[in-house]
Amino acid sequence: MKPIIAANWKMNFTPEESLRLIDDITSQGLPSNVDIIFFPSFVSLPAVVDKLLDSAYSIGGQNIFHKENGAFTGEISASMLKALNIQYVIIGHSERRQYLHENDKQVNDKIQLALKAELVPIICIGETLKERENGQTDPVIKEQLNSAFENINLDNQKNIIVAYEPVWAIGTGLTAEKNKILDAHSLIKETLETIYNFNIPILYGGSVNADNAASLINIENVDGFLVGGASLKSESFCQIVKNITKNFERS
Ligand code: 13P
Repeated sequence: MKPIIAANWKMNFTPEESLRLIDDITSQGLPSNVDIIFFPSFVSLPAVVDKLLDSAYSIGGQNIFHKENGAFTGEISASMLKALNIQYVIIGHSERRQYLHENDKQVNDKIQLALKAELVPIICIGETLKERENGQTDPVIKEQLNSAFENINLDNQKNIIVAYEPVWAIGTGLTAEKNKILDAHSLIKETLETIYNFNIPILYGGSVNADNAASLINIENVDGFLVGGASLKSESFCQIVKNITKNFERS
């Protein structure tokens, strides 16, 4: 499996700025041994899709609403994203759980809707600092996984990704210690293996940058990264890609 490098631009960039960043990144060439997914804002999606049509880069949305359609002013549905010809969607990001009070039931509903629309969901889970300090990391991870995947039948669609993003590591410059990442990813893998009998890629997210990417990518069960801040500049993002390309040791 190629490492996946997902660039979550969050609430940054106009369409014009998004295209400029895409130009800067793509002009440096795409190494053949990584998969890159861009997650622009909704308003930048059409321009980015046009630009990258028929390229080897993939594109995703940062969210969908937890209902299929209807009177939900300002919201975006899974099928609307699918109609733009994009492949992925981030679901349950901790910023949405924290600032918009998104809950596990809504995350579960969103996964169902994403799969129905044939989008690949990237499901974000991770503990807060308080939960970590109280020794709650493992139960929180298990609970988030079990509720996210409740009644999710993946027989027909094996395309699904989990991202472990410890909340306290996001945008703080703090990265979880390697052994803690190993423990969390092993737990996620074991938990998912009790539900499904196939391999689900697990990304790490939380202050990934050009300096730490090379060592983090070789932790067992780390199949790639969900990058926030360091994906907003072509220099830092391309350096992450290069460092992973040079240092990825798994066959
Ligand atoms: P940072 O890389 O800025 O810590 O953000 C991680 C993240 O939230 C990606 O979804």
